[in-house]
Amino acid sequence: MLALTATSTAPYVALSTVADPVPLGDQALVRVRAFSLNRGEVLGLPGLSEGLVAGWDVAGVVEQPATDASGPPAGARVVGLVRAGAWAQLVAVPVNMLSEVPDGVSDVQAATLPTAGVTALRSLEVGGLVLAKRVLITGATGGVGRIAVQLAHAAGAHVSALVRNAAASSSLLSGLGARAVIERLESDFDVIVDCVGGAVFGEAAEHLAQRGVLVNIATQRPDDAISFRAGRLDRAPGARIYTLNQWDETAAQGGAAKDLGRLCALVTDGQLDGQAEFEGSWRNPAAAFDALLQRKIGGKAVLRVTE
Ligand SMILES: NC(=O)c1ccc[n+]([C@@H]2O[C@H](COP(=O)([O-])OP(=O)(O)OC[C@H]3O[C@@H](n4cnc5c(N)ncnc54)[C@H](OP(=O)(O)O)[C@@H]3O)[C@@H](O)[C@H]2O)c1
Repeated sequence: MLALTATSTAPYVALSTVADPVPLGDQALVRVRAFSLNRGEVLGLPGLSEGLVAGWDVAGVVEQPATDASGPPAGARVVGLVRAGAWAQLVAVPVNMLSEVPDGVSDVQAATLPTAGVTALRSLEVGGLVLAKRVLITGATGGVGRIAVQLAHAAGAHVSALVRNAAASSSLLSGLGARAVIERLESDFDVIVDCVGGAVFGEAAEHLAQRGVLVNIATQRPDDAISFRAGRLDRAPGARIYTLNQWDETAAQGGAAKDLGRLCALVTDGQLDGQAEFEGSWRNPAAAFDALLQRKIGGKAVLRVTE
């Protein structure tokens, strides 16, 4: 099969011929139709072992169901999440990381959901029932942020979206359910999902309400120091910081199949849009990487696996 495998020079992947994956008993073999890119995985490409098939988020069709008879049948349209191997014509996906895709959800929409959607969903669930709570999403214009805004709104929260340029993104984010689109924090929040890190994380920590939770998801350089005034946390008893790693969460809770099913249902109901701002062919990944990393687009970039 053809796959985008890791290389040592930019754009750090190349289309190559590799052996087809051999699924384990609890894995379905999926013929890939589209995959989305995550900022974190694109930034991580230079660190991959040469020849590794990259990619986490996949939408496609089951070519061969799992031999243990679990999971979707042959021919089912599916969406799934893997630790590597999605940027290929075929990928073996554990059935607990795979969900069927309803007819009303396109391949492109489905491909936007795995990493960004599951991370946003799990992050909000850390806050419990968010009905009528003050929820802040930082980095709200990004892949995770746009989905988190929509999910929090659908769950009945009062959503504030922290962005760099409110004038530029106010209409987009209001349309996704944000009641306030802001550039700085002036009030406190019950649940904060921080998609930026660094100084923004420090500022968010200073705006936690009593018993509030700040969900830390943003990838940081390990030696970066983050500061906030201790007194601001002292005045919020019960407030906590929860570091969320999507792989750890899904492993601890038996997979992501149910989450993916819930996300697809929300798309079908018109309550969620995966926000694919770039669509292209996997034969030109560099254009998508550039659009994502140079912030020419927000939301998600999706590549179709064309012949
Ligand atoms: N923990 C996990 O399991 C997990 C899972 C998925 C993602 N992540 C991490 O979560 C973060 C978000 O992921 P993503 O895929 O959504 O990335 P993304 O699409 O690049 O989104 C990040 C957003 O943050 C915005 N931003 C940057 N600096 C800002 C600031 N000072 N104030 C307000 N907004 C700011 C950017 O907007 P501009 O266009 O204005 O720059 C961008 O839209 C990344 O660090 C990623 O690695 C972690």
